[in-house]
Amino acid sequence: KEKYKVAVLGSGNWGSVAAKLIASNTLRNNDFHGEVRMWVHDEILPSGEKLSTVINQTNVNVKYLPGVKLGKNVVADPDLDSSVGKIFAVRDANMLVFVTPHQFVDDVCKRLVGKIPGDVEAISLIKGMEVKVEGPRMISSVISEHLGVDCCVLMGANIAHEIAEEKFSEATIGYRVNTEAAKRWARLFSTPYFAVTAVQDVEGVEVCGTLKNVVAIAAGFVDGLNMGMNTKAAIIRIGLNEMRAFSKRLFPSVKDDTFFESCGVADLIATCFGGRNRKVAEAFAINGGQRAFKELEEEMLKGQKLQGVLTAEEVYGVLQKNKWLDLFPLFRTIHEICTGNRPVSAIISCNEPQLA
Ligand code: NAD
Ligand code: 13P
Repeated sequence: KEKYKVAVLGSGNWGSVAAKLIASNTLRNNDFHGEVRMWVHDEILPSGEKLSTVINQTNVNVKYLPGVKLGKNVVADPDLDSSVGKIFAVRDANMLVFVTPHQFVDDVCKRLVGKIPGDVEAISLIKGMEVKVEGPRMISSVISEHLGVDCCVLMGANIAHEIAEEKFSEATIGYRVNTEAAKRWARLFSTPYFAVTAVQDVEGVEVCGTLKNVVAIAAGFVDGLNMGMNTKAAIIRIGLNEMRAFSKRLFPSVKDDTFFESCGVADLIATCFGGRNRKVAEAFAINGGQRAFKELEEEMLKGQKLQGVLTAEEVYGVLQKNKWLDLFPLFRTIHEICTGNRPVSAIISCNEPQLA
């Protein structure tokens, strides 16, 4: 029987950890090819060397996950889609793991159109959405529509550097109908320190993973304002309510139970306490909104990317278009603060939303 060959598309902080997790399993499990190709959006390091070359020499992603061996069977590949070279990242792969920041996925998919056989299975670890004039699309749909493949999602309370240290965490796979594919993805990711559950609610899982990044911005604001734990808990609770209401308005099929999986309340808590969105939003508040997110992101994250500010803008677009702004005062206020239209202190003046 044909073995499954995995390619990981993306090699940031979480992308690198995902490749490490997967590679530890492909070595052990005969269903999979041992080698895992990881596509690197290449860059030149201060040493003058290419990041992809250094990863292959040292087995460490020195820029996005320093100090952690990825496993010898992870091969960094800067060539996503070459039609000239013999070897490129997605060649012969039949399981594709998408894990770039969400603003880049459309471009990555466009480069792959026509190069992916129809029997390929995909999974998205990307927390985000795309908003165009036609309306919002989740990233799994962007992937499915561009490439004509089925796309599951994997989301959860998964702060990457903790998983790199092999500290226990859980994750949720969302799938549509293909239970066999969901089981295969679960086998590919599960380790004794990474417990994966699959639920038949792809939209619910993905919208949770996407919206918690917006709430985490608010959590950072109240941290920066030194408001204390009761205020932060209130923000998290109101945020969870708005997450649920927004998900159901976009996708009525979303299940309440999904919010109790790792992708829901657990990821919300983890990100509001330990994530990058929280950290940069705290700095924004400490600076009284005087330094732009872009500048803080570059200074504090050193090449890693923030998803929450862009997602807040995308969510705002959906609220505006549907005349829902008054129903989502927290989401609305977060975006208005991020763009400098309201002071950071406005975050605590938004009342309990009326979510009829
Ligand atoms: P990251 O923010 O650490 O790194 C940014 C990545 O973007 C780098 O690999 C960089 O090379 C790449 N990049 C820059 N410009 C690019 C371009 N034009 N085209 C393609 N790639 C480009 O990345 P990450 O942490 O792996 O995040 C990927 C996704 O995973 C995001 O949706 C994020 O929300 C999600 N996620 C992250 C974590 C975490 O703890 N880091 C955990 C769970 C989910
Ligand atoms: P941040 O991007 O805020 O670090 O969140 C990471 C994450 O998604 C944890 O599950």
